[in-house]
Amino acid sequence: MGQFTEEHSISKEFRQTVPSAAHPLDTRRWKPARVSKRTDSRRWHHFNWIVSSIPVFLTVSGQKGGVAKTCTSIHLASIWAGQGHQVCVVDADRNRSALAYAVRGALPFSVVPVEAAAKATRSADVVITDGQASSDEEELRHLAMGSDLVLLPTAPKARAVELSVELAALLRRVQVPHAVLLVKIDLRQQRAAQQARQALESFGLTVLNAEIPLLAAFDKAEAQGLTVEAATDDRGRADPRRMAGWSAYRTVALELECLISKPSSVASRTIKPLPLSA
Ligand SMILES: Nc1ncnc2c1ncn2[C@@H]1O[C@H](COP(=O)(O)OP(=O)(O)OP(=O)(O)O)[C@@H](O)[C@H]1O
Ligand SMILES: [Mg+2]
Repeated sequence: MGQFTEEHSISKEFRQTVPSAAHPLDTRRWKPARVSKRTDSRRWHHFNWIVSSIPVFLTVSGQKGGVAKTCTSIHLASIWAGQGHQVCVVDADRNRSALAYAVRGALPFSVVPVEAAAKATRSADVVITDGQASSDEEELRHLAMGSDLVLLPTAPKARAVELSVELAALLRRVQVPHAVLLVKIDLRQQRAAQQARQALESFGLTVLNAEIPLLAAFDKAEAQGLTVEAATDDRGRADPRRMAGWSAYRTVALELECLISKPSSVASRTIKPLPLSA
């Protein structure tokens, strides 16, 4: 994961929504088209984002603790594994929270510590790296450069937004595509989410249309080692709000497929890798 190549490019259709981006990796002026989520999800099914033998590398990163990096990694992995893809989650957090999540239940994909990633990811279609908060700059840069896209879960709080803007500046310097996912959105405080979105977009960041609601079901799911749609309460009853969380992550998965889509013409091209010190 030491070098970044352009094997996975930003999809042609996505680029067409961004006439100002001269280069697919020029994330400075990305602006996803504002179309309805309903039509989006139908359209995005057309993308062939997994091209055989070339895994997709997604890193879920962020300097703020507790912003659902692990939760996001686990849920995206589960959605793509459910579609028949070989998915491997690489736990790059010293706390080993993704590993701890996985051992509590029976998730349909493998979770491995970063030290074991080389071999474990050999046969994967999708590799999701769960990053850790408060990483040093070199660590972040190396993780980013081994990724096709870095996803930044961000809660609608001032400090979380600031840290995502700072991290995005680093990702821009190393020319790694990135996007923000707003998480833990309290549906009674939608205004905070709107303000966070506006602030992030004012710094030129791409913010996914989908937002993850704040739901107790996520906590329950984590305690049970399950994904949110399988969360139950103490009496074993299904959590009534669980599907809102699950369908939000499904929409995120579709948006990411669009962002990471790999036209086969591009997939086979050999592009000069960027040096790690960029
Ligand atoms: N949408 C959500 N609504 C409510 N709780 C959530 C949501 N997403 C995650 N959580 C809970 O928030 C806590 C932190 O989530 P998680 O461990 O995924 O964050 P993290 O960014 O990986 O944290 P760390 O920085 O410690 O690695 C967990 O208890 C998790 O169950
Ligand atoms: Mg974590």
